[in-house]
Amino acid sequence: MVEIVFGKLALPKDGVLVLPVGEGLPLSGEAAMLDEKLSAALSNAMAAAEFTGKSGQSLNIYNAGAYKRIIIIGAGKDDAPRRAELLGAAITAALGKETEATILTQGFTAEQAAEIGLGARLRAYKFEKYRTTQKPEEKARLKKLKLLTAAPKGAEAAWEIAKAVANGVEFTRDLVTEPANVLYPAEFAERTEGLKKLGLKIEIFGQKELEKLGFGTLLAVSQGSIREPRMVVMQWLGASGHGEDKKKKPKDPLVFVGKGVTFDTGGISLKPAAGMEDMKWDMAGAGTVAGLMCALAGRKAKIDAIGLIGLVENMPSGSATRPGDVVKSYAGKTVEILNTDAEGRLVLADVLYYAQERFAPKFMVNLATLTGAIIVGLGHEYAGMFSNSDELVGKLTASGEAVGEKLWRMPLSKEGEGYDKEIDSPIADVKNIGGGRAGGSITAAQFLQRFVNNTPWAHLDIAGMAWGAKDAGVNPKGATAFGVRLLDHFTRGFE
Ligand code: BES
Ligand code: MN
Ligand code: ZN
Repeated sequence: MVEIVFGKLALPKDGVLVLPVGEGLPLSGEAAMLDEKLSAALSNAMAAAEFTGKSGQSLNIYNAGAYKRIIIIGAGKDDAPRRAELLGAAITAALGKETEATILTQGFTAEQAAEIGLGARLRAYKFEKYRTTQKPEEKARLKKLKLLTAAPKGAEAAWEIAKAVANGVEFTRDLVTEPANVLYPAEFAERTEGLKKLGLKIEIFGQKELEKLGFGTLLAVSQGSIREPRMVVMQWLGASGHGEDKKKKPKDPLVFVGKGVTFDTGGISLKPAAGMEDMKWDMAGAGTVAGLMCALAGRKAKIDAIGLIGLVENMPSGSATRPGDVVKSYAGKTVEILNTDAEGRLVLADVLYYAQERFAPKFMVNLATLTGAIIVGLGHEYAGMFSNSDELVGKLTASGEAVGEKLWRMPLSKEGEGYDKEIDSPIADVKNIGGGRAGGSITAAQFLQRFVNNTPWAHLDIAGMAWGAKDAGVNPKGATAFGVRLLDHFTRGFE
């Protein structure tokens, strides 16, 4: 984890120095003074390299004066969206294997200095716990960034909040990256217990409790695995007052529900071998909800928020659910399971219904790597959003734009109409797949909607967004934690 610290604007004597320069602007302030000291070495290099300050540009000057390295980096236009955090990410990328650096953030506000720190830290994330043979020079990476600003106190205050969000994102990325032999339902649940120290109330439901509750669809997914299922309920009561009164109940809470399939083989409807390893990420929805709760508690958000995650492993075995089996959900509806690979919706059905019954949410948002079809439709730019509430759609879309985790609304029919008719079963109340492959993400959403009452609700299908094949913006390649920042931003509208 990169340590971020702030200091007053004053040129450091040596080391690695980063100078952001806005598009079309000359060096100014401290940077201009430094240029003078170095007999115009910086401005000459900028002219020679045709450096214009466009974002994405960077220029290295080694051994200038007492400095090991000076990086002049394009800060782009003033009004570019998410300018500061993307600059921070670009700085991390430009620093390569440097371990420490100082950034001159003149021209940026204190809040923007914290955003630069956030972008830099998020981009610097690495998961290296299973590497045992790396040489020290291969292991070298960013450890500490010092940001110099005109208002270090203000930047520190803004960073306290941003840091909590970064902790949440990293918590999610760690969970999503862990292999499935290490992170199975019980282990995932246990890791959420570590969040208690932030003031979260954590309840864990095991096999017996879930049986007693009658979580028939969740258990139907889990029954082929030797790993026991879990449901975790995480409560943050930042509005109705934590601590003081342990019996306090949440009031009009925001409720977040995550699909946590720690490995999805498809079950008896077994997936093909190629690419099956990707299915260790099938718990990304749950990982995001856990990271979000970590962020909210870490920044002491003044809202009541509940996170619920359903954790199972989907395996084929002699005890596994067969295609054609009929089971009873917690809601009381019977479900004909025609494809055991359409398991995420079965897990969510029970948890969504339980969430509504127990917490009467103001808004309910679920996240799930639910369908391959959403990747066919939207690729890796937008997550799919399905909702029964225009108001909720408006808020989520705006938050997505603000943090660069974009959502695209997809259609959803009313019950008994249009797409919904696709999931009528000949022998039960509902079946878990549509008639054919057509509209696969929509029929999956329609299935979830069958378990939503009058709650304003949105389902985010994040199958294309949970993992990135290459470095992009604030995300290094690998687990993105898509949704943590989006939903953290969304909750701020209720404080
Ligand atoms: N976890 C998968 C969806 C998925 C696929 C996520 C690829 C990320 C990448 C989900 O459980 C699944 O298997 N869905 C099936 C549904 C089908 C059987 C109706 C799918 O998308 O093929
Ligand atoms: Mn599946
Ligand atoms: Zn799945």
